[in-house]
Amino acid sequence: MRMFGKAGKAAAVAAIAALALTGCGRSEPSNSGGGASGGTAGFPQDSAIGVALPKKTSENWVLAEKLFNDGLNGAGFKPTVQFANNGVAEQQNQISAMIAKGAKVIIVGALDGSQLGTQLQQAKDAGATIIAYDRLLLNTANVDYYVAYDNFKVGVLQGQALLDGMKAKKAAGPYNIELLAGSPDDANAKVFFDGAMSVLKPKIDDGTLKVLSGQTTFEKAVTQDWKAENAQRRMDTLLTGSYGTASLDGVLSPNDTLARAVITSVKAAGKPIPVITGQDSEEESVKSILAGEQYSTINKDTRKLVEHAIVMVKDLQAGKTPEINDDKSYNNGTKVVPAYLLPPVIVTAANVKTAYVDDPVLGPLTK
Ligand code: BGC
Repeated sequence: MRMFGKAGKAAAVAAIAALALTGCGRSEPSNSGGGASGGTAGFPQDSAIGVALPKKTSENWVLAEKLFNDGLNGAGFKPTVQFANNGVAEQQNQISAMIAKGAKVIIVGALDGSQLGTQLQQAKDAGATIIAYDRLLLNTANVDYYVAYDNFKVGVLQGQALLDGMKAKKAAGPYNIELLAGSPDDANAKVFFDGAMSVLKPKIDDGTLKVLSGQTTFEKAVTQDWKAENAQRRMDTLLTGSYGTASLDGVLSPNDTLARAVITSVKAAGKPIPVITGQDSEEESVKSILAGEQYSTINKDTRKLVEHAIVMVKDLQAGKTPEINDDKSYNNGTKVVPAYLLPPVIVTAANVKTAYVDDPVLGPLTK
């Protein structure tokens, strides 16, 4: 071994790693159905790592970009972190470029989780491990792990908060509510909605909740691109069409950006602000909760999520199988993806002063 210079030794290590990769890739069943098997068995510490992020539709994504760059650089990797603000084709091209750069792990926060099949197959063929980040990758066997806050639980917490908030204002129903969902191309949007509806649907069925617009399906409730103006426009129409004299008691909003759009619409219509849910703990929404306008948000600390994704990368680099804590909940249409799920936390005026104690931005804001 002494005859290897530094470069020679690195090349030898790389060659062994490449062999291990090929072997591992071949022996792995194409549809492992829940097994925690990554596609690599260790790779050099200064390897390229790709991180493909969607559009900057909320603060969490912007924060993730910085955290991935800092964390992966700090661990010695060579990260490429990119947004796909111009759409699906841009994200597809970015992933192809990451494969060409020899990325050992590609972390994907998909713009549209069902449109990346070709690139994920190519990534897999090149020996990369694929981690779905925050949003699941759909209808493909080529996703090794999923790291996210439990999205169904987010929806359940939102549905429950909506009920609790309305009950606190008016002890007995019926309550008039409207429903908003996220962007239909984001795999999370339907999961949030289904989680919320698991709580709300029985109450709609028993007459406790009334949706005066009649728009109770996901398809009717969606907000294309998670855009505030789309939510505001729909809310304006709902208010004009169904709430001339009737009161609106609550609105299910899937995230903070859309919650603030609903508040703008309701204010413009001269109506009292109903109980409105949210998600992401965006600064403006936390202020809105403190001011008694938005009712709730969800704390999904981006720092913890990125940190965990990087722990997975480090494990893979060391040839270890990353830890998962869920092997049954997230079926992507082709396989159940081994997942590491973090618990989302509901935040209302009741706990807003304690919820963010260790958050450098929100902590001081809520003191
Ligand atoms: C994320 C949410 C975010 C939304 C819009 C979702 O996939 O899970 O936290 O609000 O995208 O950016």
